[in-house]
Amino acid sequence: MATTKTTKTAGKAATAAKTAAKKPAAPKKPKTTTAEQAPAAPAAKRKILFVASECTPYIVTGGLAEVIGSLSKALAATGNFDVRVVVPLYSDIKKEYRDKFTYLGNIYVHLAWRNQYCGIFSYEQDGVIFYFLDNEFYFKRPGCYGYFDDGERFAFFSRAVLEIMPFLNFYPEVMHCHDWQAALAAIYLKTNYCFRQEYQFIRALFTIHNIEYQGQYSLDILSSLFDIYGKYQYLVEYNNSINLMKGAIECCEKFSTVSPRYAQEIKDPYYAHGLDPIVRRNEFKLTGILNGIDDIGYNPQFDTHIFANFTPDDMSNKAVNKAELQKMLGLPVKADTPVISMISRLVSHKGFDLVLNIIEELLQDDVQFVVLGTGDSYYEGFFKDLARRYPEKMSAQIMFNNDLSRKIYAGSDIFLMPSKSEPCGLSQMIACRYATIPVVRETGGLYDSIKPLENGYTFTNYNAHDMLYVIRQAMADYKNKEVWSKLMYRAATTDFSWNNSAKQYEALYMSMLN
Ligand code: GLC
Repeated sequence: MATTKTTKTAGKAATAAKTAAKKPAAPKKPKTTTAEQAPAAPAAKRKILFVASECTPYIVTGGLAEVIGSLSKALAATGNFDVRVVVPLYSDIKKEYRDKFTYLGNIYVHLAWRNQYCGIFSYEQDGVIFYFLDNEFYFKRPGCYGYFDDGERFAFFSRAVLEIMPFLNFYPEVMHCHDWQAALAAIYLKTNYCFRQEYQFIRALFTIHNIEYQGQYSLDILSSLFDIYGKYQYLVEYNNSINLMKGAIECCEKFSTVSPRYAQEIKDPYYAHGLDPIVRRNEFKLTGILNGIDDIGYNPQFDTHIFANFTPDDMSNKAVNKAELQKMLGLPVKADTPVISMISRLVSHKGFDLVLNIIEELLQDDVQFVVLGTGDSYYEGFFKDLARRYPEKMSAQIMFNNDLSRKIYAGSDIFLMPSKSEPCGLSQMIACRYATIPVVRETGGLYDSIKPLENGYTFTNYNAHDMLYVIRQAMADYKNKEVWSKLMYRAATTDFSWNNSAKQYEALYMSMLN
């Protein structure tokens, strides 16, 4: 059969060749196809660049890193975006990661009178390309922040972000800058760079994860350090200082916060740390999108850190986690005593003033209280002392420990988060996943994610006894096994994945591009 076919084809070809020799072939007409007939061309991916000062799993000090790591992944997974992330190459990025990075080359970055080396490394993971910018003078130090020259360090970083674009031949359609450390990238884009053709169509989105940290400096260093001159001074000047967050809000096409409620709150002086007039003036370009959590990483069914795995449909192992946690922390193993936990930085705006006010009153009840975290030495000392005085009821774990945090999420009954302000907050969502019922103050993302009696308890005013009242209400419901197990089920099955939020970011990007 095969031979016959070949022969036939060869014969046809010979005839065609003869015909062609006689008559010059007419140029082929392009086939006309109707819209229905045409195969759908794959839509080009829209190019997004995240600019941030930290990102999981490489370098983490807080919730910002979690959002950068998981949102970028969720956006790439939609198939609609070419997502890239750029962060500084801090010396705290572990060798196990560094060994995997590829060195792409280096450039020099001009900023005022400085001309600094910038090495560019990259790594691809989960469909996202990560860039790490190297300069040992700025980033070979322990930790990420808290240095006298942070302004200069992040000015270098922000300027380098714009300078690597020609090197990489990657010009994003949306440059998504996060918090004050990346504010200058948006400011430089809309001042020094907007006259260059390749940069003209880059839109800037600025996301505020916490309005408390604004990047404020003396006006004296505006030109010598930030390379911003006379006519642009008005963009960053605020209350006789440089305010980088203010500058980014003025320069960006859109800005957002990490929950809808916080987007409302920052128009109010109570929450805005002085920036409310700027927020109100730019309100027309403000949106709030609630963060999600990495629901694969935080899943009690597979979490290897916890004592025993469980699912919303079978929570029997939750009791094992509780008993083991009590043992580990040296508390009496009591199945029916509610365990209340807090996992938090020990700082005032997380609501510790309220806790300090009522804790001795609360400890008179049949209850156990666990605190994990570090922070102000005043609170650290207070809780250590309390644990010494109430060894049967109080455990103070003054440390940062991921493994222990998961054991606490899984082993406690009630999770307390009475923040004075909370842009989004991730811990209340993680607690829900582990069927630990949050008691929160109605602010920011706590308000948006926790609904009374649906998946937790809430109180409105920043008032210690309002909080105590609601904690006691939760403790009373805890005694009613039927009510409590329904509540645990609803909390554990609340959808806190990134799917929904990623769709909202997608809509926001598209609104900027169209
Ligand atoms: C900041 C906020 C926190 C938020 C996180 C991620 O750390 O304080 O509320 O969850 O950023 O957006």
